[in-house]
Amino acid sequence: MGLPNKPTWELLAEPDLSKVAVEEYNYDALIVGGGMAACGAAFEIGKWLPDGATCCMVDKASVERSGAVAQGLSAINTYIGENTPSDYVRMVRNDLMGIVREDLIFDLGRHVDDSVHHFEEWGLPIWKQKGDEGKKLTEGGKPVRTGKWQIMINGESYKCIVGEAAKAALEEKGYDLHERVFIVKLLLDANKENTIAGAVGFSTRENKVCIYKAKAIMVACGGAVNIFRPRSTDEGKGRAWYPVWNAGSTYAMCMQVGAEMTMMENRFTPSRFKDGYGPVGAWFLLFKATVTNGYGEHYVKSDAAKAELAKYKPYSESAVTPTCLRNHLMLFEMKEGRGPIFMDTAAALNAFLEQKKAEGMDEKALKKYWKELESEAWEDFLDMSVGQAGLWASMNIEPEKVGSEIMPTEPYMLGSHSGCCGIWVSGPSEDWVPDEYKWGYNRMTTVNGLFTAGDGVGASGHKFSSGAHSEGRIAAKSMARYIRDNADFAPSLKQSEEELKEEIYKPVKVYYENYQKTTHEMVNPNYIKPRHMMERLMKYTDEYGGGWSPYYMTNGKLLEIVMRHLQWLREDSEKMAAGGLHELLRAWENLHRIWTVEDHLRHIQFREESRYPGFYYRGDFMQVDDKGFDEGGWKCFVNSKYDPNSGEWTCMKKKCYQIIAD
Ligand code: ADX
Repeated sequence: MGLPNKPTWELLAEPDLSKVAVEEYNYDALIVGGGMAACGAAFEIGKWLPDGATCCMVDKASVERSGAVAQGLSAINTYIGENTPSDYVRMVRNDLMGIVREDLIFDLGRHVDDSVHHFEEWGLPIWKQKGDEGKKLTEGGKPVRTGKWQIMINGESYKCIVGEAAKAALEEKGYDLHERVFIVKLLLDANKENTIAGAVGFSTRENKVCIYKAKAIMVACGGAVNIFRPRSTDEGKGRAWYPVWNAGSTYAMCMQVGAEMTMMENRFTPSRFKDGYGPVGAWFLLFKATVTNGYGEHYVKSDAAKAELAKYKPYSESAVTPTCLRNHLMLFEMKEGRGPIFMDTAAALNAFLEQKKAEGMDEKALKKYWKELESEAWEDFLDMSVGQAGLWASMNIEPEKVGSEIMPTEPYMLGSHSGCCGIWVSGPSEDWVPDEYKWGYNRMTTVNGLFTAGDGVGASGHKFSSGAHSEGRIAAKSMARYIRDNADFAPSLKQSEEELKEEIYKPVKVYYENYQKTTHEMVNPNYIKPRHMMERLMKYTDEYGGGWSPYYMTNGKLLEIVMRHLQWLREDSEKMAAGGLHELLRAWENLHRIWTVEDHLRHIQFREESRYPGFYYRGDFMQVDDKGFDEGGWKCFVNSKYDPNSGEWTCMKKKCYQIIAD
């Protein structure tokens, strides 16, 4: 009997696992993921692998619309253009409060524009300044800059365009693409210490377990969402800012095989339009909007705000206040009882009109200009966050007349947007890179043959969509070199096919052995459904780990409690039950979430300061301690490592080098 895609009440017999097929594949290169970074890798790898080499990209969804860019975007937030990679490093370093891997950021900065040029070549419309319409970036066409680093696009189909190019590149070389296959875990080699040998997963459409052997693997499965209680409840559930399907798989799978992690204490708590989670970047940068408190005051200019910022010098002194500190001011205002916070959309739009009037624009032209402005404002949402447009429409919001509430969301974990958690990887092997930062293959983790990119690479945020793509390309090129250098390596697995199948399908077995013992399948003393597991996780992380309900505050005591709960959650996850393939996916995703958030909180526990005010606070260590590694301070990386042999977790400090001068 086959398992249905979704649980069904008609399915009352025990599933016969002998009918679950096991397929074994053997590749030189395996790309796990299908988002921007994975697509970059797929596009690039064929150029560098030897002739006759084999490669496969595995995506749990469908490449055309998978990953964080699935819904589209209205801007590309990293385009260096007339700026320099060194300046890019300075911006990222300051926004992330000083602790970053400058080698990785510089390396990305010098390559990222090439990906953007490819996007345009493949058909992505990039806004151009007046007079340059129709001229490509590579032909000198000047983009419409929102900020120093961002450019505007018509990006509803951004991912389709990039996905198509990736698929075409795979096809051209005769490489494979497996869609709707969820990778559950990575597999270490049976003979060679600390070396990757494969991965195992299952089809989310057929009853099939897929075992992959590979000489090298790149894992780029995005960041982690739904690890903290979301602000949206009940009918709004599932509404989040980053894609709900990012389950921390990148972090969990790599740490489980012993990859060293870095800056996992970092999180991103973006300010978004309330309830719809709509983006704010275009409003701040393109429309030059400002924020007010509930009384219409521009609180960021108040003496109280200035005094708050003064605590966080030198970071708060830069031209652009770091993202976490902008949140900090917002939270400060709300806690002082002066909320809610509004994006002053009306003032911003009307200021443009006033400016044009002052320039002498006539009535008719003004009307046309207004229409353009209005459609740009809506398009920002329609391109990338349709739900926010729906929310505005249903709430009768006319942005030119009233402001809209903005609010810091629940925390997310990611390494490609304005956050920097992730995996500790080797940087480029060049003489300006400190020895501790490089061990041979660019973007390789501390596990031989295991690479990552995008949200996976830690301590180097602000890559965004274009940066993730170009980092995928960087990783793929170096992965190909690793494969050439290890041509004789024949990966061998520790577990048998049967053992792996048993393990992967265990939640299905748990479900069918027990579901008839209660009247409602959700409630059962012998198992827990993935949905309930996720809700428990969110309750613990929110209340003890500094979620939004305690205003992102935690401390050593609270963290001790959440650690206990997480331990129990991991034990209880043995009893997760899946009535169908979709729930089986949810079950394994949850396990990835639990591992990811546990590492996150271990890092927060270890770092005895509050490095990112506005993202989280340690009530027992509220200050930023900017003494460096050599002086025993906290201006250094926190790395962690899970030992797959002993099951032990360790956290350690690592020195942070400044490479680019101030
Ligand atoms: S989104 O497109 O991913 O939703 P978001 O709204 O967060 O984007 O804005 C992204 C870009 O705008 C980033 O480059 C971010 O640093 C920048 N940004 C957002 N808000 C501000 C601000 N108030 N000041 C300066 N830069 C900002």
